[in-house]
Amino acid sequence: MKKNKFVIVGSGSSYTPAIVAVLLQRRTDIRLGEIVLYDIDASRAARTGRFCELYAAENGGIPVTYTTDIEQAFRGADFLFVQIRPGCNAQREKDEKIPLSHGILGQETCGLGGFSFAMRCIPAILEIVGKAQELCPDAWILNYSNPEAMISEAIYRTYPKAKALCICDMPISQEETIADFLEIPHKELTFRYFGLNHFGWFTHIYDKQGRDLLPALRERVLSDSAVRLVNAEAVEKQDNYWGEMYAHAIEGFRAYPEFFPLVYLSYYYFHNQIVEDMNPEYTRANYVMDVREKVVFEDCDRCIAEGTTRSSALHAGVHGNYIVDIANAIINDTHERFIINTMNRGAIGNFNHDAVVEVPCYVGAGGIEPVSVGYIPQFHKSLMEAQKGYEKLTVEAALTGSYQKALQAVLLNRTVPSYAVGKAVLDELMEANKGYWNELY
Ligand code: G6P
Ligand code: MN
Repeated sequence: MKKNKFVIVGSGSSYTPAIVAVLLQRRTDIRLGEIVLYDIDASRAARTGRFCELYAAENGGIPVTYTTDIEQAFRGADFLFVQIRPGCNAQREKDEKIPLSHGILGQETCGLGGFSFAMRCIPAILEIVGKAQELCPDAWILNYSNPEAMISEAIYRTYPKAKALCICDMPISQEETIADFLEIPHKELTFRYFGLNHFGWFTHIYDKQGRDLLPALRERVLSDSAVRLVNAEAVEKQDNYWGEMYAHAIEGFRAYPEFFPLVYLSYYYFHNQIVEDMNPEYTRANYVMDVREKVVFEDCDRCIAEGTTRSSALHAGVHGNYIVDIANAIINDTHERFIINTMNRGAIGNFNHDAVVEVPCYVGAGGIEPVSVGYIPQFHKSLMEAQKGYEKLTVEAALTGSYQKALQAVLLNRTVPSYAVGKAVLDELMEANKGYWNELY
């Protein structure tokens, strides 16, 4: 049978070694033929590239190459894993710090940080998907690039026929955390969920006997003020940020106990409180550059110098597993269930049919089959509608270059308290993103 060519787009990322490790672990299942690492930045491409080349030679002997040539990378590809970050974490730092300097949320994907990232990422991602349509139209494109809510709107709207799936590891990561808390293997649970990317809710958690465990989870959370949900991966990495995010999610469940919120909703439920706790001088981007990137890149450099990856401390996690699991579901037509961003088209009965939503889908060789969520309650629907308005207008602004659309998007974002603040932050972000955003007029 034909072997598959996997391409990682944006391969200079610190996430790449872990994704490559999972591809290699699963090489038989996914009929792995070769891995090509593609990045526009030659020095970043070379660092993770040389590391992965060595790692693959020592773990299965699969050919791994790296390149800055898109034609060479995309021709003959079967899967593109896309995880780009135009401007890297240096621009992310600006996205986070500029809004915070005006007293509003500064975050990678939520609030105006997410808006700014979308304005950078949408033109870049559309160029990549366009090239893929030309060079490898049969390849599956699995996109992790953020802010996924708006990237997915832009991709599905511009290339409705592309074989693209827009995904996020947060829902699965949260499912695994909840499963650990309930002390039930994740595989034995079926989670029902609906929402937008980084803006959704778990509505039911079924066990093998068909019992819904959400009411019991609610009971435990409401009756025990000290209850903690602990994300095992974050604990291992001593990443306190996720500990706090989960604590806020618990608070959110207590505040609005109908459904269990995705952790990112806390930025909207508790905007002011969270902003007060943020350090405007040292944001998540600083942590990622100072800790995660440093650890990963130093590990790569050391292994390259030693000529072996035997001493590498890097290992796979949920992020790598999830994307490879989805590729595996396509390759082996497994019809497993994953939460994916897809055009609604009725999956949520009482929500805009021409909007991207995040819902469970069964995945097989022919693509995805979204589950029917039915009708959602007024509260969640209204929150989603305002958020969707913001998302759609952001995509409009990125595609048309309309300053007015950008300003409308900004005012619709729940983290923006007034026209004056919204406009000031927009103008500063625009200045800080010269050369990255399409010019607004
Ligand atoms: C989760 C989200 C991603 C996000 C990442 C941020 O995995 O689903 O969308 O990019 O967290 O992690 P970081 O450690 O870079 O702040
Ligand atoms: Mn995500």
